[in-house]
Amino acid sequence: MRSLAFVNGKFSSLEEAKVSVEDRGFLFGDGIYDVIRVRNGRPYKLEKHLKRTFQCAKELEIPIPYSKDELLSIMTEIIRKSGIREAKLYLQITRGAYPRAHEFPQEVKPTFVLIVREYNGVDEVLIREGAKAITYPDIRWGRCDLKSLNLLPNVLARQKAVQMGAYEAIFHKGDGHITEGAITNVFIVKKGTVLTAPESREILSGVTRETVIKIAREKGIEVRERVFSLEELYNADEVFITGTTTDLLSVVEIDGKVIGKGKPGEISSSLYKALKEDQKNECNLQ
Ligand code: PDD
Repeated sequence: MRSLAFVNGKFSSLEEAKVSVEDRGFLFGDGIYDVIRVRNGRPYKLEKHLKRTFQCAKELEIPIPYSKDELLSIMTEIIRKSGIREAKLYLQITRGAYPRAHEFPQEVKPTFVLIVREYNGVDEVLIREGAKAITYPDIRWGRCDLKSLNLLPNVLARQKAVQMGAYEAIFHKGDGHITEGAITNVFIVKKGTVLTAPESREILSGVTRETVIKIAREKGIEVRERVFSLEELYNADEVFITGTTTDLLSVVEIDGKVIGKGKPGEISSSLYKALKEDQKNECNLQ
């Protein structure tokens, strides 16, 4: 069992995998990425991740050097070769390597990178007891719906969260409305209704977000996709966050204020269970 890379058509160890110092991903953050969860050796919700990757690539005019089917077989191959059953699969495609100039080069081949690493999910204690979060000003650009490599605001926000002993940083805009977390989408529960920010250029449309909304509606829980405020966040009965590496995590304290009863709430817990069940079914887990 070992971490593996696939760079421009070649499988190798992570140590041997190399890209150019003139790669535009390195110079400008001129590229896109995605993170896919692997359970029991099988990628979870892969179709949805690939769809988003192809959409982002199209918007940014970055050609993907493989078809969806080819990508699928390369991903299957890297997981198989690694021997890792519980993993995160990182996909990155940049505009390619070229002498530095901002405008798109005329003739350049995209750089295609895949990395598979073992990953076993969020700490059990956090899942059981709930996590802390902080809020942080949303200083990101105007196209947060694209999964681009430009993550400096997310990096700064999460660093602050870690310094404060928290798991996540939740972004708020100047007028106080909540967008999402640095690596997750944010949900609140009030009087039995689940609320989350609507799809827009202000948030990444998370694959886990979509899955959880679907699961909740199937359970007969009302879900509203609407803008909500910092005030509503602090006063929610329950808060939870969702993401590929996070699954669904209850948030029980934000900026030092206790949320609801200070422990994972009923709706969050039942949605967490249902999400894990969905992973089990799709990935054939026992
Ligand atoms: N985080 N919002 C942001 C800003 C994200 O970076 C992510 C993903 C999400 C959740 O999206 P999804 O459910 O498709 O993973 C929302 C990546 C996976 C990370 O963990 O780094």
